[in-house]
Amino acid sequence: MTQELTTSLQADTARPSGGSGWWRDAVIYQVYVRSFADSDGDGIGDLRGARERLPHLAGLGADAVWLTPFYASPQADGGYDVADYRAVDPLFGTLADADDLVRTAHELGLRVIVDVVPNHTSDRHPWFRAALTGRPGGPDRARYHFRPGRGAGGELPPNDWESVFGGPAWTRTTGPDGAPGEWYLHLFAPEQPDLNWDCSEVREEFDSVLRFWLDLGVDGFRIDVAHGMVKAAGMPDIGRTEQAKLIGSQVLPFFDQDGVHEIHRSWRRLLDSYPGDRIGVAEAWAPSPERLALYVRPDELHQAFNFQFLKSPWDAAAMRTVIDESLAATASVGAPTTWVLSNHDVVRHPTRYADGSPARGLRRARAAALLTLALPGSVYLYQGEELGLPEVVDLPDACRQDPAFFRTSAEGQDGQDGQDGFRDGCRVPLPWSRSGASYGFGPGGSWLPQPAAWAGLSVEAQTGDPGSTLELYRSALALRRELPGLGDSGMTWLDAPAGVLALARPGFVCTLNTLGEEVELPVPGRALLSSAPLAYRAATVRIPPDCCAWWAI
Ligand code: BGC
Repeated sequence: MTQELTTSLQADTARPSGGSGWWRDAVIYQVYVRSFADSDGDGIGDLRGARERLPHLAGLGADAVWLTPFYASPQADGGYDVADYRAVDPLFGTLADADDLVRTAHELGLRVIVDVVPNHTSDRHPWFRAALTGRPGGPDRARYHFRPGRGAGGELPPNDWESVFGGPAWTRTTGPDGAPGEWYLHLFAPEQPDLNWDCSEVREEFDSVLRFWLDLGVDGFRIDVAHGMVKAAGMPDIGRTEQAKLIGSQVLPFFDQDGVHEIHRSWRRLLDSYPGDRIGVAEAWAPSPERLALYVRPDELHQAFNFQFLKSPWDAAAMRTVIDESLAATASVGAPTTWVLSNHDVVRHPTRYADGSPARGLRRARAAALLTLALPGSVYLYQGEELGLPEVVDLPDACRQDPAFFRTSAEGQDGQDGQDGFRDGCRVPLPWSRSGASYGFGPGGSWLPQPAAWAGLSVEAQTGDPGSTLELYRSALALRRELPGLGDSGMTWLDAPAGVLALARPGFVCTLNTLGEEVELPVPGRALLSSAPLAYRAATVRIPPDCCAWWAI
């Protein structure tokens, strides 16, 4: 079909909103440290391995790297259970390795963002150990949420809140004499007790932790569970089960309470007191784009992950709606939008988009990458998406580590076309070379088995192959830097046939065909890049199914 791709413009959906911070249109590459590169052959990625592979990020064209937690931790939840916020876990190296990594990144022109985990500590944190031996109502317990149980003997949890990982959000303690005692709150695993942010010592400690890493030279923080630190007064019952899902959007008395914003404001003041543009990015699960935008008001954090877009189905109208809502919500507070397709908590997007056909999933993933890189704002890339890695859907149970796997039955999990909704399948170590025990991940094996087919998806195998996903990403990021119309400027929709999105930026057009059949359009301009080969006929171009193309106009 030939359809008119007119240039009749609709209302601007995004305006440049002032400010020139580097983060406003940055491409930020997420390194899941455990699975990125292993320098010592123990099968677990580490900071030295990550440092040695930083040229890959610089060559790709990323502006910054976000490192997932590498702090001292018993690893009950992949390091999101921190026992010492100022120490590097020996699994991942030393503080000197962290320092070296930050320096090397800066030399390569990459900024560094580290995770901070303020909602909960590890149960091995000295504070929680002291709390367990401390007396009910005493100062050691005031840093957490301890409560007596309900029922005649206190045998029932203090309220009906559920853990995001399954089961009750409360665990009962046992006194030194073996008698059951108070309960403590953990919105995640029992090994992750929630901190009480009404306690001034908690606030002071985190200010000091942030300063510690800022002094070491980091450029910002990804704030884990930024929506969870404050709980509704009185901790009311919810009255139903199936409460919180990972990256959910439910309204709950333990998430997205107004009180969290005052904490983020104080952190913004702290960040601003340092030279350079140091940033905070909220990992916040909010019920709507408007609620999410509150986290990025001018005196709060700089960015928040846009999970609404990540959850959008492969459907042009749905995607356009999410894009419009996201841009409008962030524009209302003058912040840039972020675009995220995958991270270490969700099924990798080639598999999410596959609808039963891995080839289709990859086609769509490549197209989605070009779409998101063409939108105004900042883009987060999850390690391996530049290789088109799918979710690994046949991991043996014996090697799984996701705490949710041990606390929830697979039944009822939203598999989203992954193995079963758990998170190990997106955390399989990266393949760097065609051969070797772990395809170049390290000199030894790998903590999760890598599929043999990943040899062909390795960085080595894809480098120099013009049809590869890696070269597509490299070209797209290079163009994104080069073209003044991309990044943090306005965008308009162009009229396009159903199933097709066409958007214009200064000097630039992006067309996305989400349909399972080709569409024929008037040639919008000079072709810059496309996720699949285009075919021309006179003044029209045929865009293949599930394909995105960039044009200079
Ligand atoms: C992190 C997860 C982690 C959870 C608890 C998240 O949102 O991204 O990986 O399990 O916080 O810290």
